[in-house]
Amino acid sequence: MYVISLGGSLIVKKEINVEFLRKFRNFILNYLKKGKKFIIVVGGGKTARKYQLGAKKLKIKSKNDLDRLGITVTKLNAYLVYLLFKKYSFPQIIDNPQKNINFKEKILIACGWKPGFSTDYVATFLAKKYKAKFVINLTNVDYVYVKRKKRKIGVKTLSWDEYLRIIPKKWRPGLFSPFDPVASQLAKRFKIKCIILNGNNLSLLKEFLEKGVVRGTLIG
Ligand code: UTP
Repeated sequence: MYVISLGGSLIVKKEINVEFLRKFRNFILNYLKKGKKFIIVVGGGKTARKYQLGAKKLKIKSKNDLDRLGITVTKLNAYLVYLLFKKYSFPQIIDNPQKNINFKEKILIACGWKPGFSTDYVATFLAKKYKAKFVINLTNVDYVYVKRKKRKIGVKTLSWDEYLRIIPKKWRPGLFSPFDPVASQLAKRFKIKCIILNGNNLSLLKEFLEKGVVRGTLIG
């Protein structure tokens, strides 16, 4: 069982990223044939941020409301991803990972849950629940980057404490962070590792699934 946190940034660029979604579908179907199972937690990405920005301009100030707006976008994206895998997927999109679901299908699709964090938190929660050791965070960067002498350097491994030191401490709606701080605290507590991989190059995911090689950043 693999848990994937699928960044919304991969699903929608300027338009719906049909090319990525087609490749992702074929990629996953190929691994279903090999007996693998997936939990795919779908993010809201740029679309969520656009809505949140619009709402802020309209003087909507409540952080909870902005988060709920973001969650609604994750549901929209999750529905599209669900449709790609309808034949193989549990027939409901999980919007509350606390619910006990005994699924026999090969895929479970989840979306955002509640204010205060991103879908990374949902992915971490589900990883613990279904006993996965990793959350695979498919995103649109190659690595977690750190600043050293004014240069940005991609790092291959970080402990949770090292990672938590370089990202913002506090949650806010639409926060940019390769893996969100609240989810990171949870993953640290649960001793779950996170693998940051660029989803635009699915051969990286292939290398991880087949050889356990991380060509991205391994946290934890
Ligand atoms: P995402 O999980 O998409 O955040 O949720 P993200 O940082 O944009 O991640 P990528 O780019 O998809 O990987 C979008 C927004 O929805 C709200 C938050 O405001 C978040 O910024 N949200 C999402 C929640 O409040 N709770 C959730 O459980 C999920």
